[in-house]
Amino acid sequence: MDGTPHADGASRADKAPRADGAPHADGAPRAVVVDAVTKRFTLRHARSIKNMTVRALRGERLRDRFTALDDVSVTIGVGEAVALVGVNGSGKSTLLKIISGVLPPDEGSVLVRGRVAGLIEVGAGLHPDLTGRENVFLNGAILGMDRAETLRKFDSIVEFADIGRFLDQPVRFYSSGMFMRLAFSIAVHTDPDVFLIDEVLAVGDPLFRRKCIQRLHDYRASGRTMVIVAHDAALLRRLCTRGVFLQDGRVVWDGDIDTAADLLLEKRREHRRAGAGRTRGVPGDPAGPARAAEVGR
Ligand SMILES: Nc1ncnc2c1ncn2[C@@H]1O[C@H](COP(=O)(O)OP(=O)(O)OP(=O)(O)O)[C@@H](O)[C@H]1O
Ligand SMILES: [Mg+2]
Repeated sequence: MDGTPHADGASRADKAPRADGAPHADGAPRAVVVDAVTKRFTLRHARSIKNMTVRALRGERLRDRFTALDDVSVTIGVGEAVALVGVNGSGKSTLLKIISGVLPPDEGSVLVRGRVAGLIEVGAGLHPDLTGRENVFLNGAILGMDRAETLRKFDSIVEFADIGRFLDQPVRFYSSGMFMRLAFSIAVHTDPDVFLIDEVLAVGDPLFRRKCIQRLHDYRASGRTMVIVAHDAALLRRLCTRGVFLQDGRVVWDGDIDTAADLLLEKRREHRRAGAGRTRGVPGDPAGPARAAEVGR
């Protein structure tokens, strides 16, 4: 990692696509290797036959290909805590989904060493018709725990989630905070080697948020690897040592977290100055224009 901005994407100091845990040139084993990944989506402009016909008669395109990630390379060492930052639509969630294996890349490759778990979409993996109890077993299995392991950890999962008497209710009746608490608790109890977290810390009450952050600190202290997406620059400074800044699907900074967080705040200020924040809120800032300064929690 040379910690300099790259016009062409990530640091290419170490492009070897290895995630086998063998020490590399700098002596650190690799947990995640994202190598020259490109991901495109198809944007359909016409949904109905009528609309399609009208567009076709006018000679307009029916669909476009959109590049969400453009030749992204990131290598993450075992035990690193990396923040993915950038404004809305810059490709953070797409990259996490590709690392987790939920989405395949169109080009390039991804290698992950060990068990990967995470919260990459609110409620991903929880079935709304099943109870909290049933979901602990289902989601635990999806995340790689066998029944014996889930049984062993069950009480601890429920205690951490603090869903109390709702345990035997279908999770469709849970509040969004409760839903998140359960999903976070299951994921963190799978003891993954690589933990991926997308935005979840924005949900939940302050007490639970503190509990989660403490858990992530402990998790980091135990030498495991984390990749976190959040819009809270102060939180990311506390949890991560390294920041990868994405802009329009390309890596424009890969280095220390302070520079990445500063870039994020600067981008927001730019949007504000451009007037984008006046009526619609600031891209990348869930709290909108009122949240002018970095918030420390
Ligand atoms: N399934 C999809 N089909 C079409 N376009 C998609 C799809 N998923 C993501 N995109 C587009 O890809 C771009 C990157 O999306 P992504 O969700 O990765 O951004 P993000 O950085 O996570 O943004 P946010 O901060 O709003 O969560 C966006 O323009 C988005 O509209
Ligand atoms: Mg996202």
